[in-house]
Amino acid sequence: MKDHLLSAADLSRDDAILVLDTSAEMAQLTEGRSVKKLPTLRGRAVVNLFFEDSTRTRTSFELAAKRLSADVVNFSAKGSSVSKGESLKDTALTLEAMGADCVVVRHWASGAPHRLAYSGWIRSSVVNAGDGTHEHPTQAILDAYTLRKHLGSVDGRRITIVGDVLHSRVARSNVLLLATLGAEVTLVAPPTLLPVGVEHWPCQTSYDLDSVLVKADAVMMLRVQRERMNAAFFPSAREYSRRYGLDARRFALLPDDAVVLHPGPMNRGMEITAEVADSDRSVIVEQVTNGVYVRMAVLYLLLAGGRE
Ligand code: ASP
Ligand code: CP
Repeated sequence: MKDHLLSAADLSRDDAILVLDTSAEMAQLTEGRSVKKLPTLRGRAVVNLFFEDSTRTRTSFELAAKRLSADVVNFSAKGSSVSKGESLKDTALTLEAMGADCVVVRHWASGAPHRLAYSGWIRSSVVNAGDGTHEHPTQAILDAYTLRKHLGSVDGRRITIVGDVLHSRVARSNVLLLATLGAEVTLVAPPTLLPVGVEHWPCQTSYDLDSVLVKADAVMMLRVQRERMNAAFFPSAREYSRRYGLDARRFALLPDDAVVLHPGPMNRGMEITAEVADSDRSVIVEQVTNGVYVRMAVLYLLLAGGRE
């Protein structure tokens, strides 16, 4: 792996398989054990630098770093000197001056992690924990890990990603990583919620969810990201759910062994009904568990260089 993890496109097929296999080892080393800690990153410091809200990503990076015995600092822009106007550069310099070895950054601006990694401001490894509407590579890795667990392999599998692709960094990172791993990805969304240039992405697109679901090995529902919408992208929530929501009728169209994913947080009743979200073929809670193993693997490979 390179020094940073900024995009799912940073991972070659071999890199992606290495991270997935290392995640499986992390799971094996910690699952079911009363003491889940490994000494691997003792003396190293990981800073979680969050300029945007998070539940899963921030806590799982924290837990992952702690399980590897690293010191962890959680920094959120709210309540920090960012509110006094301090820049990203000065914030990063300040944190590195305290000895950060790795900066895990979530930012509302697409490209902020790249700026941190390549501006020469800091020497630490940078991990993108979600930048604007751009990318969320560790989410894509945990999704691929979850798919691999349930489908055996991702290669040749048909994965359907549904909803607000336009605002979704999860969709972009997933399309890139799943294509690298050999999956056939289809994006389903209203035309207004597909990004310009999507025809150049390594996937297919459709507006007809029912016809795609019958052939899917897995379906990933995306959150409708109202906080990023400054206009009306669909007539009403009811209309959106009717055309693009996963309800019991649509769920029944899926092949029997297909699984349902959602990165969270969910809008229950909007893109997915509670009945489907809580069904035994939903792997949404398991995605969160797998996120800890994947983030352990990423921190280990970046900071210990896979040495031990
Ligand atoms: N939690 C994911 C993200 O931060 C997905 C979402 O918010 O809808 O990108
Ligand atoms: N899936 C995800 O990134 O969740 P959070 O926004 O809660 O971190």
